[in-house]
Amino acid sequence: MNDLNPEQAIGVFDSGLGGISVVRALIDLLPHEHLIYFGDTARVPYGSKSKDTVIRFSHQISSFMLEKQVKMIVVACNTASAVALERLQQNFDIPIVGVIDPGSKAAVKLSPNKRIGVIGTSSTIRSGAYRSAIQKLDSAIQVIDQPCPLLVPLVEENWPNDGVLKQVLQSYLKSFENNTPDALILGCTHYPYLKTAIQEVIGADVRLVDSGEETAAEVQRVLAELELLNSKNGDPGKHKFYVSDFPQKFEETAARFLGRPLENLFKVELEVLEAYK
Ligand code: DGL
Repeated sequence: MNDLNPEQAIGVFDSGLGGISVVRALIDLLPHEHLIYFGDTARVPYGSKSKDTVIRFSHQISSFMLEKQVKMIVVACNTASAVALERLQQNFDIPIVGVIDPGSKAAVKLSPNKRIGVIGTSSTIRSGAYRSAIQKLDSAIQVIDQPCPLLVPLVEENWPNDGVLKQVLQSYLKSFENNTPDALILGCTHYPYLKTAIQEVIGADVRLVDSGEETAAEVQRVLAELELLNSKNGDPGKHKFYVSDFPQKFEETAARFLGRPLENLFKVELEVLEAYK
């Protein structure tokens, strides 16, 4: 492993702005850590793209992160974690943490009846990554999974918690109706923003697992184990945000996801990104 030191930043990447939900969880738990976020806003969504394409994009972004001298990479995007994490861990010589294992571990702990639900993008569900991570921990657990492709655009649109959203959720969550899980993994960066609506539809007895929050705890654990936690002084960490495009309503969406306007924001041209291997 390269020479890493606690003062280096943690790199966090996502297909777009949704991964800011993971940044928020990291800031809450590790306020002294410097963060470098990359959102691939020019090429979002990843959730409907092929595995090879998502692996290629994830590789380019990880190379960019390495050039920024991060001490760890967090793959905030569930789709990229599902299809590209293993490849990244093989090809890059720094700790790389995805969201699938932390979310799965937390759900297993919350499932006395050995029944877990997973919702995510089409690619995440098709990959079976959550299913195999859960069943590796406990092969007796029944996993019920459901792709919910309409939810990302609804969150991006800031759609209100109204009849339309409820109907969409009811239709997707029907798969769990006669087979209620103990826990439901929110296996997509955008779903934590729909927690209230999802809880209302699935019922109060089902525990919602936010993979982003669980991942922040895993990052803390891994950094502590490697003695890489930035605890030298009490200053708040610095946060830098890189994106590959400024699409319409960018500022509004980013500020809504982060809870405040984005500062230290930079654009990386797509041809620069594509030059990374
Ligand atoms: N970030 C993606 C995920 O968590 C959702 C958005 C997309 O499809 O790119 O799977």
